[in-house]
Amino acid sequence: MNADLVVVGSGFYGLTIAERCAVEHGIKVLVVDRRPHIGGNAFSERERTTGIEVHRYGAHLFHTSNERVWDYVNRFTAFTSYVHHVYTTYRGEVYPMPINLGTVNQFFRSAYTPDEARALVAEQSTEISGHEVSNLEEKGISLIGRPLYEAFIRGYTAKQWQTDPKDLPAEIISRLPVRYTYDNRYFNDTYEGLPRDGYTAWLERMADHPNIEVRLDTDFFDSSQPINSRDVVGQVPVVYTGPVDRYFEYAEGELSWRTLDFTEEVLDVGDYQGTSVMNYADEDVPYTRIHEFRHFHPERDYPTDRTVIMREYSRFATREDEPYYPVNTPEDRARLLAYRDLAKGEDGVLFGGRLGTYKYLDMHMAIGSALSAFDNKLTPFLRGSQKLV
Ligand code: FAD
Ligand code: NA
Repeated sequence: MNADLVVVGSGFYGLTIAERCAVEHGIKVLVVDRRPHIGGNAFSERERTTGIEVHRYGAHLFHTSNERVWDYVNRFTAFTSYVHHVYTTYRGEVYPMPINLGTVNQFFRSAYTPDEARALVAEQSTEISGHEVSNLEEKGISLIGRPLYEAFIRGYTAKQWQTDPKDLPAEIISRLPVRYTYDNRYFNDTYEGLPRDGYTAWLERMADHPNIEVRLDTDFFDSSQPINSRDVVGQVPVVYTGPVDRYFEYAEGELSWRTLDFTEEVLDVGDYQGTSVMNYADEDVPYTRIHEFRHFHPERDYPTDRTVIMREYSRFATREDEPYYPVNTPEDRARLLAYRDLAKGEDGVLFGGRLGTYKYLDMHMAIGSALSAFDNKLTPFLRGSQKLV
């Protein structure tokens, strides 16, 4: 094999490592991915009949306050001025999200000032006081009061977890911020936007270097493939961004994840919902959100008589599903510690990314974490001053 480094996974973490090592150290990097496309969960492609860019694994919004990450990503793509907003439908009425003064005033049919709304929510939150909250429902009520909790949090959370919030641990939510202004901009970061030419063009530019080869449809654990763990580990240094429990053949048990199911539809209307993301708070609506992709790129020349929507459903993942969000039960956390010890002992293999570390990472966090690993682990290793662990 003609490679100085093997990277397992072509998501943002793996591609950042590959690009930095190829450019800064001039080494040959082989990236393998078991999927038929590059980019991990950030992959997008144009829907065939409309040309509308669809994010295959759910809507991806780029945002960061990290200067280094922002400088780095701008080498590969320009960003549009898209600013994300979310709305939610509850009992036949549409409200702005996250919960803000507009939501509160619409919900209570009133015209509270910021101070009046703050006092109202504070008063409604006292229902659960004098004892420790013992589940997510009590936690939610203690943070924003019962009326707002029951409208905007209970049904949505029950659908996300397929579990009654009374049976969910309180720690799932630490904060439920209410904004006492009419600002419903979704992210607070310094920089925000969507890649002008789409996610896949950005991801492909990261891999576009003579020292980088990408092999798709290649599962690292399939020993019939020329590049597989048995032949590579111990021979060539590896950066592994797949699931950490899978690497160790589930020796410490399975880490639990939530997954999402998406159903896509092309509709004969120019605009289905007037915005990119509509949440559905009612428990009897089976999906959690609808994405309408044309609204991510109002600057593009999309057809005006057709649109693409995607409904999103949430459930617990089995081993065969794509893992999306760590569930993070106490058992998961104990297992993760055991896997971290195994990973430390695995010489020549660095575990990274959201699957390799069992951590939800936004794109900018995956990229930032790869840039740090490049500085602190790969560069010293490639200069011969440190083992790769
Ligand atoms: P991934 O992108 O998951 O890449 C890992 C890759 O490893 C995959 O391509 C996989 O096929 C490959 N792999 C796994 N096992 C093997 C194997 N055995 N052999 C070969 N290859 C293997 N971030 C944002 O910043 N904004 C958002 O709005 C946003 N929305 C999201 C919505 C959803 C539903 C999800 C799940 C994530 C979202 N993210 C968002 C997070 C974003 O997708 C991650 O930051 C990014 O995926 C992390 O990159 P990664 O390289 O760590 O992992
Ligand atoms: Na290691």
